[in-house]
Amino acid sequence: MKAVILVGGEGTRLRPLSCDVPKPMMPIANKPFIEYIINQLKKYSIKDIIFSTCYLPEHIENYFGDGSDIGISITYITEEQPLGTAGAVKNVEEYLKETFLVFNGDILTDLNLDEIIEYHLSKKSKATIALTAVEDPTIYGLVELSKDNTISSFLEKPSWDQVTSNLINAGTYVLEPDVLNYIPKGKNYSFERGLFPALLEQKEPMFGFISDSYWLDIGTPAKYILAHHDILEGKIDFRFEGKEIKPGVWIGKNTEVDSTVKLASPSLIGSNCRIESNVKIAGLTAIGNNCSIKKGSHLEGCVILDDCKIEENAIIENSILGKGVFVGKKVYIGEGAVIGGNCAIEEGNHLSRGIKIWPSTRIEKDKIRF
Ligand code: GTP
Repeated sequence: MKAVILVGGEGTRLRPLSCDVPKPMMPIANKPFIEYIINQLKKYSIKDIIFSTCYLPEHIENYFGDGSDIGISITYITEEQPLGTAGAVKNVEEYLKETFLVFNGDILTDLNLDEIIEYHLSKKSKATIALTAVEDPTIYGLVELSKDNTISSFLEKPSWDQVTSNLINAGTYVLEPDVLNYIPKGKNYSFERGLFPALLEQKEPMFGFISDSYWLDIGTPAKYILAHHDILEGKIDFRFEGKEIKPGVWIGKNTEVDSTVKLASPSLIGSNCRIESNVKIAGLTAIGNNCSIKKGSHLEGCVILDDCKIEENAIIENSILGKGVFVGKKVYIGEGAVIGGNCAIEEGNHLSRGIKIWPSTRIEKDKIRF
């Protein structure tokens, strides 16, 4: 069976991190996110993958190539203009002659693919949508079901008085090729507002597959941090690179950690890092490769991407540093701040309350107290 992975979106909600990297290539525990999806597919012997790309496609193609190194076959189809989620699948129609899978490239889930495929086939469904229950369905596309789990309606971002179910479209579909006839060619068209309502109107058999698997859309900075916390806490099965030096603490190759460093579990440090004396790394921290953290700094609950340099006595809490960020002495970065790639935050600055700093910005000494 073939799988189409949608990886062409601009990822606007994840800016500034997605300004220079497509969201599906953002590292999760130091590996590009879609590597996790690929490993899930391999687990179910699905090795024929079509990447539907648009925004910064070369990042994906340069990294995975034709997939032969990792035992899969990858076809890349790049749109000149974004075609939307369903339009992107229509665009790869020539490769889809049998039942196939579609994945949003930003969903962290351990959904059992054998079960959803079996369910789709047994129901003779034309389109089967994985559904997950959420606490606040008003920010998602709500799906209502009839008794036999046929889909009876869709409600995009309903208000609370319209909410009659907590099941949302989980961004994984099993489809029959003939549903592609309902998608206009070369036009921007979505599954949620386009194809699925059209199938409903035409009374095509469409089923919801309710799953209680782990599910998270990694598309905002807060969810991106949460994905790391959940992975570190073992809420979803994940193979970390490096050695587990004590329960829940993984350290990559050639990383030096001074003996005075306080390193709490769960945490992850990549390879080729230098962690100096009296640094405190509290739990739920993920540090990329080639990072240096100087004396007395304190990190907690944060995600630090590759090549970051953190000077003495800095504090970073529940925030994200993009790739190649410099953090000066005594800088505070906290409360969901997001620092884009290659920024330099010089000595004494205080950045908090979800502040977003665009890539390659230099903030001079003692300039910001936010
Ligand atoms: P936001 O701008 O933050 O909403 O993110 P996004 O652009 O990724 O959109 P969204 O989260 O709705 O997309 C869900 C999935 O579909 C993601 O994996 C996107 O990469 C992908 N996607 C969205 N739009 C397109 C498109 O026009 N073409 C292709 N090929 N993929 C798309």
